[in-house]
Amino acid sequence: MTKKRVLSCIQPTGEIHIGNYFGAVKNWVDIQDQYDCVYGVVDLHAMTMPYDARNLQENTTQMFIDLLACGIDPSRSVLFVQSLVPQHTELTWIFSCVTSYGELSRMTQFKDKVDQLDESGGKKNFVSAGLFTYPVLQAADILIYKASFVPVGKDQEQHLELSRNIAVRFNNQFGDYFPEPAPLYTDVPKLMSLADPTKKMSKSLGEKHYISLFEPEDSIRKKVKTAVTDVGGQPGGEMSPGVVNLFTIIRACGNIPAWEELNRQYAKGTLRYSDLKNIAADSLVDTLRPFREKRTEMNSDRSKVNRLMHESSAVARRYAAKVLDDVKERTGLVK
Ligand code: TRP
Repeated sequence: MTKKRVLSCIQPTGEIHIGNYFGAVKNWVDIQDQYDCVYGVVDLHAMTMPYDARNLQENTTQMFIDLLACGIDPSRSVLFVQSLVPQHTELTWIFSCVTSYGELSRMTQFKDKVDQLDESGGKKNFVSAGLFTYPVLQAADILIYKASFVPVGKDQEQHLELSRNIAVRFNNQFGDYFPEPAPLYTDVPKLMSLADPTKKMSKSLGEKHYISLFEPEDSIRKKVKTAVTDVGGQPGGEMSPGVVNLFTIIRACGNIPAWEELNRQYAKGTLRYSDLKNIAADSLVDTLRPFREKRTEMNSDRSKVNRLMHESSAVARRYAAKVLDDVKERTGLVK
């Protein structure tokens, strides 16, 4: 039986933090045998908000390395760089002709990003057509591989729905061709900010709110040690968000025996938060160490990485070229 195809992408907008890893990337790694997986680093999407051209190439390469360091395996999955597969942009044009101005105007992420640009003001207050058509490029990312499933978070549901509408509209107009991609939901842990555990962990909150996946050990320990908890409630009472978050970290790292024991102590009212923090920090340090080592190793041989990046993108390109060829035939373009 042939495996169903899964596709997902990440923007190269800086380092992955443990919230991104446990909430998304770990799942990409875990499903590599179960599905025919295609993953991408989407550098073209990163151009839709103000950015520094001097850093983009480096950020893209580093993101490619970081995904490999956490376990994306190029012998089992395809990992491409979006700008190395120009068929995505060609298909975007064709798709933009079956997408309405109205549906793009209703995209909540577009509206949120426009607000963000308005707030930053000054010369950054420029809303590009690229930001507006961002979801069409995303639909092309998905459909050019005829993906059946897309692992996405809540924030991307609307974009995925648009991708389905584009597929349906294309099929109606040009004959059945694209499958309708469905979301792939998995039960993933949601990590909260360490400094304000009522908010989702995010880089935009600031340094002390998140832990980068490749953070040095002493810094990991320091951030966990100073994580917000509470003054200690009644035995067996409801856990405060900060305490829940530390338990979530321990469980996400797979340290189940410790997680069970600490839960028992919590129920009895004997849990010391210093112990909880030490175990959370140890679990994280142990889990992340191999990633950091692999990253350092790959960073020491960039020419090898470059070769791999081009080879893996070439695999994607061959597939994408075939689909684009079919699309051109159907849409009446000269070949
Ligand atoms: N928009 C996604 C995000 O910001 C990134 C993305 C681009 C993506 N193309 C995609 C995700 C295709 C899934 C499938 O997270």
